[in-house]
Amino acid sequence: MDYSGQFAWVIFPYMMIVLTIVGHIYRYNTDQMGWTTKSSELLEKKDLRLGSMLFHYGFLFVIGGHIIGLFIPRSMVTAAGISNELYHEIAISTGAIAGIVTLIGLWILTKRRFTNKRIIATSSFTDKLILILLLAEVLLGIYNTLFHNLIFGDYYYRETISPWFRGLFVFAPNAKLMADVPFAFKLHILLAFVIFGLWPFTRLVHVWSFPIAYMKRTRMIYRRRCGNITEK
Ligand code: HEM
Repeated sequence: MDYSGQFAWVIFPYMMIVLTIVGHIYRYNTDQMGWTTKSSELLEKKDLRLGSMLFHYGFLFVIGGHIIGLFIPRSMVTAAGISNELYHEIAISTGAIAGIVTLIGLWILTKRRFTNKRIIATSSFTDKLILILLLAEVLLGIYNTLFHNLIFGDYYYRETISPWFRGLFVFAPNAKLMADVPFAFKLHILLAFVIFGLWPFTRLVHVWSFPIAYMKRTRMIYRRRCGNITEK
């Protein structure tokens, strides 16, 4: 594989992984008060509720699909009795639904951020940039899952992209596997690494602060002066 291939599929991914690790440590140490979603719920609620719900639920399924497709080797899935064709059909149908739900949610959130005057006034450059990048990433993903397969025939990424991707985690990524991957898939993956690199410098840091402890907290009891008790 030539130098550009080595750069794209070995050097660049590791650069972005290092950037995201160092960036998170830096942000945590220098800007803990800014480690937040910067919620804009007080400025606009209706679109936020719908867009955020569709985006987050859709995205959970998208992540689930990526974990299965990228981390579980094809041989294991076949051994479990699921043929390549059946796997592909399930991946395309469920993946497309999850992707489209994510896209609708993301579109509502992006439109809100670019058109609502109160939200515009409180948005930073990175707030807007990350939405545009996520939108492009999800559109490319849907294109690959739905349209690429329809237009050019099925592409079995579990024989190329998945083993290359797993190789990154054991410090042995094989760039040659990526040589003949269709361009739109390559773009989707490179953009994902750009997003990973920018992650710590955006409001995406809130993902690591999911309030798990809040859901397990003991109930708070509010007592009225007259003696009635309400639990929240
Ligand atoms: C390095 C990381 C990533 C890799 C290797 C990757 C790989 C892939 C592949 C191979 C597909 C096509 C699946 C198929 O044809 O069935 C796909 C689809 C998709 N990707 Fe990614 N992806 C990555 C990161 C992301 C990120 C960060 C997002 C969103 C922000 C995303 C969103 C999507 C969506 C929405 C689809 C289409 C629906 C679906 O399959 O769930 N991907 N991705």
